[in-house]
Amino acid sequence: MNSFVRTIFDDMKKILITGGAGYIGSHTAVELVKSGYEPVIIDDLSNSNENVLKNLEEVIGHKLAFYKGDCNDRGILEQIASEHTLQGVIHFAAFKAVGESTQLPLKYYQNNIGSLVILLQFMKDHAIKDLVFSSSCTVYGQPDVLPVTEATPRKDAESPYGNTKKVCEDILVDFIKSKPGNRVISLRYFNPVGAHPSSKIGELPIGTPANLVPFVTQTAAGIREKLTVFGDDYDTTDGSCVRDFIHVMDLADAHVKALAYLGEQEANFYDVFNVGTGKGNTVLEVIKTFEAVNNVKLNYEIGPRRAGDVIKIWADTTKINEVLDWHPSYSLEDSMRDSWNWQKTLN
Ligand code: NAD
Ligand code: WQD
Repeated sequence: MNSFVRTIFDDMKKILITGGAGYIGSHTAVELVKSGYEPVIIDDLSNSNENVLKNLEEVIGHKLAFYKGDCNDRGILEQIASEHTLQGVIHFAAFKAVGESTQLPLKYYQNNIGSLVILLQFMKDHAIKDLVFSSSCTVYGQPDVLPVTEATPRKDAESPYGNTKKVCEDILVDFIKSKPGNRVISLRYFNPVGAHPSSKIGELPIGTPANLVPFVTQTAAGIREKLTVFGDDYDTTDGSCVRDFIHVMDLADAHVKALAYLGEQEANFYDVFNVGTGKGNTVLEVIKTFEAVNNVKLNYEIGPRRAGDVIKIWADTTKINEVLDWHPSYSLEDSMRDSWNWQKTLN
């Protein structure tokens, strides 16, 4: 290569993104590049595919370092370390289907917890200091007081999936107590929705979606006949459940802010941040917003409550607003528009 030609990645800090072909990881890769980091992706494509990488490279406008493999495999991690000087890691890779986790708990414990342990050993051995970990508002269960702050007590998990997030947080606390020199942040995501405004990347649910917004968009697209709203007799403004829906681009930006903040901390640092909008919306509000911004009529009916559903939860975001100077910039309207535009590219 002509030595005068510089790639856009010259001099950028390299960040390993496990699960970087997935929904949140791919959007975070875009935000990382915008902020001067080079993502190095490992993904076994168990819940994504090669096309995501192709589309991601189109959005970024550059080739990406991609390793197809399992981040439980120390061998492939060693190969990556031999080819890249890594400054940090964002660990997205995990299985996330709550229902499946009740049927196959060991699959979830092995992948979600096992991969974190292997990654921490790898980071320690290579003196890679900084880690951002994907946690979840699921650790709060059915909260007694709203909105939930980071100090809100965690509850017993409702599912093996939820328990993996709780156990991983505990592992990180113990790891940092052992003074390995690392700096770690767990981000507790609320309900990620939306897609990149280019509609080149977005959420790719496999099979029948369990989550609300993919079910909404697939129903609008005619893939599903009807959306069932799981209950309208709860103690909420319109009787349907309340969630904090956060646009995936805002969530991606929170990772960039978390990495920058870690870079300013002393060794052996651990902290936790909620990532939500700070506002709760009901399921029926989501449906009405989707219909209004997209001028689409959604076929839905009210059905029975879903067993184990959290009635209402939304985040107190004071900590992330003040400490990381992170503020969401997308509205629920933006999320519903971007989710629908993404769905239309899949049809
Ligand atoms: P996703 O399934 O779209 O992305 C995860 C990616 O990790 C997939 O591409 C999958 O192929 C890959 N992967 C899984 N196990 C792997 C392994 N062992 N090695 C390499 N790659 C592996 O999920 P997402 O929605 O992007 O979620 C990312 C993270 O955020 C997960 O840890 C999830 O538990 C957490 N989270 C998600 C939500 C949500 O609602 N989407 C909410 C809270 C927390
Ligand atoms: C949202 C609301 C449903 C589908 C999940 C995971 C949790 C965490 C966050 C990762 C609820 C209602 C849904 C449908 C409906 N993820 N709904 N009809 O419940 O917040 O939890 O995402 O860590 O672990 O379980 O999200 O999208 O499933 O549901 O009425 O067809 O939409 O009852 O009130 P939830 P969800």
